[in-house]
Amino acid sequence: MPRTAVDRLAALLPPGFTLGVATAAFQIEGAVDDDGRGPSGWDAFAHSPGTIADGASPDIADDHYHRAEEDLALLSRLGVDAYRLSIAWPRVQPDGRGAWNEKGWAFYERLLDGLLEAGIRPVVTLYHWDTPLPLEEAGGWLSRETAERFSEYAAEAGRRLGDRVDQWITLNEPATVTLNGYALGVHAPGKQLLYEALPSVHHQLLAHGLGVQALRASTDDGKIGITNLHAPVSAKSWRPFDRLHAGLFDAIFNRLFADPILLGRYPRVPWIAKRNFAPLLDAVRPGDLELIQQPLDFYGLNYYYPVRIGAGAGPAAGAPTGHHRRVAALKRLPFHLADFPEFPRTGFGWPIAPAHLGTLLVQMRDRYGDTLPPILITENGASFPEPASTDGPIDDSERIDYLAAHLESALDSVAPGGPAEGVELAGWFVWTLLDNFEWAAGYTQRFGLVHVDFDTLERTPKASFEWLRQLTAARERTAA
Ligand code: BGC
Repeated sequence: MPRTAVDRLAALLPPGFTLGVATAAFQIEGAVDDDGRGPSGWDAFAHSPGTIADGASPDIADDHYHRAEEDLALLSRLGVDAYRLSIAWPRVQPDGRGAWNEKGWAFYERLLDGLLEAGIRPVVTLYHWDTPLPLEEAGGWLSRETAERFSEYAAEAGRRLGDRVDQWITLNEPATVTLNGYALGVHAPGKQLLYEALPSVHHQLLAHGLGVQALRASTDDGKIGITNLHAPVSAKSWRPFDRLHAGLFDAIFNRLFADPILLGRYPRVPWIAKRNFAPLLDAVRPGDLELIQQPLDFYGLNYYYPVRIGAGAGPAAGAPTGHHRRVAALKRLPFHLADFPEFPRTGFGWPIAPAHLGTLLVQMRDRYGDTLPPILITENGASFPEPASTDGPIDDSERIDYLAAHLESALDSVAPGGPAEGVELAGWFVWTLLDNFEWAAGYTQRFGLVHVDFDTLERTPKASFEWLRQLTAARERTAA
C-alpha cells in the first residue's frame, strides 16, 4: 500500500489532537545506583540467568538519567505536543513504603520543568512495571497491600508534581504484568502461576481505583486515565473449540482489565475456563468494583498487533515474540497464537495490520458505548532489524509506513461516517523516542525514532524522526 503523504495525514487530524511520543523509565534511565534509587523487581529479574536475550543488562540502558537534556532537545526538535514518560517508583520511594527519596523527585521535577519550558505537555505514567523490590518480595501484585502502597505513592506524586503534569496514567498495561510476569514468567517477577496469577489482576485494578482517588484529592486540574493493551481477537477457524478459546483469550486479554474499569464488573468467561477464575473472585471484597470504576478523563489504549487464536497447544511459530522462554511458556496453554500469513511482520515477528486498529476502535465503542471516555492511543510502533551502530540517519521506511498507516486507520475509523464514528480519539503517541531496553528481548528489538548505539550511547535520529517532525510541522501549517 502506498504511504499516505504527510500533508494529507496532517489534514485528517482533528483540532486539538495530541501528537506525542512515549517512553518508560526502566527502559531508558539506567543510573540504577545513583541518587538513592532502590532496586525494582525488574532489576532482580533481569539479573537472573536466562531471563534476557543475550544476557543483556538494564543497568545503563540509554543512560537517559544523565542525558535528559540531550533527550529534551530531541523532543523539542520533533515538535510533539506531549511526551509520555514514567516515574520509576523505586527512584522516588526506594522501599515502596515510608521515606521519599528527594533526589529522585528532583530528577523528575527538572524533567517536567524542561518539558514545560519547551512547550511540551507532560503525560506521566506512575507505574510502568518497576515495582520496588521490597514490595515485590512481599508478594507484589499478588498482595492486596501493594494497592494501598501504590495509592500513597500516587498521592505524593500528585502533591509534588500536580502543578506540572497535564495527564496522569495510573498503570501501564496491567494485562502484560499479569500474563507475562505472574502467569507465564517471561517478565518480572518471573512467576509461572497460570490461573493462580489472577489475584494480580484485581490488585492492580484496585491500585488504579485508589490511585485515581488519591490523584483527584491531591491535584487540581490534571486529567487522569489508565493505559491498557488491546488487540482484536479472532478465531483460527469456525470450529467450536477455536471459537471458544478465542472468546477465552479475548476475555482475559481485553475484557478482564477494561470491563471492571468501564462497566464496574468482571466479564463472563466461556464455560471451558469458568472454574479457573475462582482465584480472581476470591480476591474481590465488597465495594471493590465500585472503587475500580472511577470516572476517567481519558482511556489510554496501546495497540501493536491483532491476535488469532486456535485451540490446543499449537506450533509456537507465529507467536508474537522471538523469546525462547515465552515460546516455552506459551506451549503450556490450552490454546495457541496462530499465524497471520497474510500480513508482513515486524522485527519481533508481530503482524503488521493497521486496519485492525480501526476494528479495535469499533469494538471499544460497541462494547462500552457511552461509558467510554475519550481515547488516547498511548503506544503504537514497531521494531525492525537495524545495525548496532550507524554513521548517519537510518532509512527506516518500514517504520514510517507502519506509523503512517496506523495513524491513518485510526483517524479514518473515527471520522464522520467512519465505522467507529462516535469514539472521541484525542491523540496518538509513538512508541518510542529512543531505541531502548526492550524487556526480555534486551537490546535486540529497536523501536526508536532515534537510533542509540549501546556502546557509545550516541543518539542518531532515524528517517522516521524526520517524518514525525514533518507531520508536526505540517499540522502547524494546516492549523495556521
Ligand atoms: C510496553 C512497552 C514495550 C512495548 C513493545 C508495550 O507493551 O508498554 O514498554 O516496550 O510494548 O514491546
